[in-house]
Amino acid sequence: MGGRVVVVGAVNVDFVVAADRLPGPGETVVGPRVERFGGGKGANAAVAAARAGADVRLIGAVGDDDTGRVALDELRADGVRVDGVAVLDGVPTGVAVIVVDAAGENQIAVGAGANGGVERDRVRDALVDALPDVDCVLVSTEIPLAAVAVVVETATAVGVPCVLNPAPVLPGLAGLLVPRPGLRGPLLTPNVGELAALTGPGPTGVRAVGLAARTGAAVIVTLGGEGALVVEPGGVVEHLPPRPTTVCDTTGAGDTFNGVLAARLAAGVGLLDAARAANAAAALSVRHIGARAGMPTADLITGSM
Ligand code: RIB
Repeated sequence: MGGRVVVVGAVNVDFVVAADRLPGPGETVVGPRVERFGGGKGANAAVAAARAGADVRLIGAVGDDDTGRVALDELRADGVRVDGVAVLDGVPTGVAVIVVDAAGENQIAVGAGANGGVERDRVRDALVDALPDVDCVLVSTEIPLAAVAVVVETATAVGVPCVLNPAPVLPGLAGLLVPRPGLRGPLLTPNVGELAALTGPGPTGVRAVGLAARTGAAVIVTLGGEGALVVEPGGVVEHLPPRPTTVCDTTGAGDTFNGVLAARLAAGVGLLDAARAANAAAALSVRHIGARAGMPTADLITGSM
């Protein structure tokens, strides 16, 4: 049986231009067309978790506009429960403008819109309502720091596994990572750049182990084309090698990793096996243009391992 996951994070619409290369400062690049996809790190991870078999509720916000309505319809179609997504007057749904180059690398600019209006108290109330029936909470940081903080505090206080994807690393985020006495902090899933922003310079493994010692919880560093590094407070547990794949678009690979990790942890799978499934799913997700287009089902993940 699938576990129960609450995801807290952003909902966007993505406008994607595939071009030969990414633009430099002040430069214009032209691709043949623009495509629209559902996006936002929270919504993407919620879809990844749902496709991986979890029962998923999303907490976040959209604007009271057609874009927001379409975003919610798409999430429902993927089986994500969206009763925790507020529909806010007077602000637009979040938008991401994305360029993807021929190697699948991307450049993303986000207009936060309604995601900037995700309120701490509303998030806490929605989470407290859900928590008796939740096996794992996943939060990402395209929403205000106060909302992220209340998720980490609330979930860790009752001992529900909490995955914090620090993308992007908000000012003040590092202050949330030290748990109160007797509690474990969140399981962090930074990429290499985010790890550096949280810890300062140094070798990846050493910095990740130091970070895990601070939180008292595991850290999984996503390494893009190099796989992932799983670390516990006592030291490096394992380097998960990259899975063979064909890269069209890396947008949403991290969201896929996080959503599948949360889904597997919620289902009672151990950390290392959950990370292995997440690593396999992220590799599958990059085979199509669009953050969610390549996100795999549970069967596909299992079949690829
Ligand atoms: O992680 C990919 C996501 O980042 C995109 O879908 C975009 O909306 C931005 O939030």
